[in-house]
Amino acid sequence: MAQKVNPYEVQGEIDYDKLIKEFGVKKITSEVLKEIEDIAGEIHPYLRRGIFFAYRDLKKIFDEYRKGNKFFLYTGRAPSGPIHIGHISVWIFMKWLQEKFGVEVWFQFPDEEKFLFKQEAKWEEIQKWLHENMLDVIALGFDPKKTHFLIDTKHAGIMYPEAVKVAKKITFSSIKAAFGFNDSNNIGSIFYTAMQTVPVFLPNVLRNEKRPCLIPLGIDQDVHFRLSRDVVEKLGHEKPAIIHAKFMPPLTGIEGKMSSSNPDSAILMTDSPKEVKRKINKYAFSGGRDTAEEQRKYGGNVEVDVACQWLKYFEPDDDKLEKIYEDYSKGKLLSGEVKKILIDKINEFLSEHQKRRKEAEKTLDKFIYKPERD
Ligand code: TRP
Repeated sequence: MAQKVNPYEVQGEIDYDKLIKEFGVKKITSEVLKEIEDIAGEIHPYLRRGIFFAYRDLKKIFDEYRKGNKFFLYTGRAPSGPIHIGHISVWIFMKWLQEKFGVEVWFQFPDEEKFLFKQEAKWEEIQKWLHENMLDVIALGFDPKKTHFLIDTKHAGIMYPEAVKVAKKITFSSIKAAFGFNDSNNIGSIFYTAMQTVPVFLPNVLRNEKRPCLIPLGIDQDVHFRLSRDVVEKLGHEKPAIIHAKFMPPLTGIEGKMSSSNPDSAILMTDSPKEVKRKINKYAFSGGRDTAEEQRKYGGNVEVDVACQWLKYFEPDDDKLEKIYEDYSKGKLLSGEVKKILIDKINEFLSEHQKRRKEAEKTLDKFIYKPERD
């Protein structure tokens, strides 16, 4: 299937080098990693493993940081369904950045986005998912003192005045070209990118500061900021820096990205240990051979084996991961055995997450941005 990567569709087996060229972003090199390590004292496994693989303008972020001008982090989640483990890698990494660099996180929940883009979306449902999604983000362990949730329809009073300034500088024809829209798209969807641009500079407007903004995101979201980077500059703000993640492959194979609307392709944050086991055993695409005997003899293909690929996200120890890959490619490990390793890792992670998720309700209010408390 031909590759397609935009905020509203991700299809095919993705050629990330091709995306780097098409989008005009830079590949993360060992020099960049070195620079991060210099400040953070370590390198997150997602960086070492190329899960975060590209960037825009990172250099400026580190230069300013060294001068004592800390950046802030910005990312977001448009609620419309449950959080699955494909969503959280960007946020896990962002939390690491928050801790290592001691910086603020601004987390946008555009509760209008999926309402506008999904024909079948119901307002009340989205509001329910907004609440549920916020609990999952909190459960990942962000620092409540340094993390601010912006909910588009609740914070409209501070966001809308800035959104119109952005919107005035983007033409309908550039929106059409960037997102592939046509005359039958609703008018709300045409405006939406202005709302997603606002948090790039809103913290500076609110506090009369000039901090750089760093956005960790899945690369499908890059197009919003490709459109608006020049615009924010025209409005007197700095262009944001971006660090891009690859997609975690769906359970069912390495094409496209995971989706909550197909629950068998994903593990949800609320899945029970039994569900996790069932889904992985039943659906995880195997790079192994047809029979155990053949597997022992010829070995399996780590690159297409989803259990092996997912372990990149859940086994932080490089040596252990390396050993699993080696054993699997040589036929010492069978598909079922790798799946078992993955199931245990994920269940361990989810059991902690689900505990913290229950507690999250109590602290939710602390995360929602309140100007008077700032
Ligand atoms: N559009 C994103 C989504 O569909 C949500 C989002 C809002 C976002 N602001 C962002 C994602 C900034 C990455 C960076 O979930």
